[in-house]
Amino acid sequence: SKDGFAHYMLKEIHEQPTAVANTIAGRLYNDQVCKYFIDEPIADILKKVKNIHIIACGTSYHAGLVARYWLEAITQIPTQVEIASEYRYRKPVVPDDTLFLTISQSGETADSLAALRFAKTAGYLSTFAVCNVANSSLDRETDVCFLTHAGPEIGVASTKALTTQLTVLALLTLKLAEIKGVDPAVRTNLAKQLRTLPGIINQSLMLNDQIEVIARQIVRRDHALFLGRGVHYPIALEGALKLKEISYIHAEGYPAGELKHGPLALVDENMPVIAVCPNDELLEKLESNIEEVRARGGELYAFVDHKSKHGLANRVNHLIELEASGSFTSPIVFNVPLQLLSYHVAVLRGTDVDQPRNLAKSVTVE
Ligand code: F6R
Repeated sequence: SKDGFAHYMLKEIHEQPTAVANTIAGRLYNDQVCKYFIDEPIADILKKVKNIHIIACGTSYHAGLVARYWLEAITQIPTQVEIASEYRYRKPVVPDDTLFLTISQSGETADSLAALRFAKTAGYLSTFAVCNVANSSLDRETDVCFLTHAGPEIGVASTKALTTQLTVLALLTLKLAEIKGVDPAVRTNLAKQLRTLPGIINQSLMLNDQIEVIARQIVRRDHALFLGRGVHYPIALEGALKLKEISYIHAEGYPAGELKHGPLALVDENMPVIAVCPNDELLEKLESNIEEVRARGGELYAFVDHKSKHGLANRVNHLIELEASGSFTSPIVFNVPLQLLSYHVAVLRGTDVDQPRNLAKSVTVE
């Protein structure tokens, strides 16, 4: 049942604090990743990993893109991320000691399963998966499966599944950081950010009414551009995917530094530009990208935190301020208001939010 929510999607967005808490429960203790989550045999595989290949589709692919930023920055393990339907039909090179990692909510996505079946013949160290459905084909066929504890996701647009995938990938990054001997103070900080994540997501949900106000402006547009940099670039991609998928407004996500290489030509007073602007080491770069949009009259909507807002307040038309999280969990937190934005735009447009046209929840054909 929808528990009094108008749509499953809205219910599932609101379940995220609990879903994250459930996904972490029993897996983190005293700032260490528990053996119950990653036991000795799995840890032995992880000790050998020299490369990681992440393969997925759609929103799950975006989870993989975020994980690459984490894995390379924190553990220095070279990581590649690829869309399953591309990966399965080329001839990928598999260096020694490479780990294959599939991400899938349903565990039944045809292209992701085909990629896994290929990987099993391609000399990988092992095949790991992040999946929300126990006993799915993916769970049964992969060597190791880490389950997300999101509970059933009914809305076609993936929300809590992505958030819990990122939570599992963050735990895996933390485990690899332990194995690689990353500074314990750094690891403690990452673990703390994970533990406070449910509460911070809860705060983001309270922005609902403010987000509905800006949705009323975007609903009249035919296009939208989402911008982010660094680990928030995949969040811009995800924001654009959600908007196009459920509201049928054409949207694109771009790394903000790419604006002047083409998309800036699209920017005028009819183009809403939605920017993900946390206070991180790329903020100054992002501010100058935002200035490029402003100079062309683009309508700017910035998602900020209490530190990044100062430099942006007089540059953008609309500011939405989130509770500041640490830089590790920040992409998870900033994704939440973008989900709400797509949701409200779709509701105002009168589309079938839970069952968008032409789409299926589980893509079991290629
Ligand atoms: C978008 C969405 C899809 C899925 C994709 C992969 O909101 O839901 O892009 O993420 O079809 O599905 P899974 O994760 O089941 O492999």
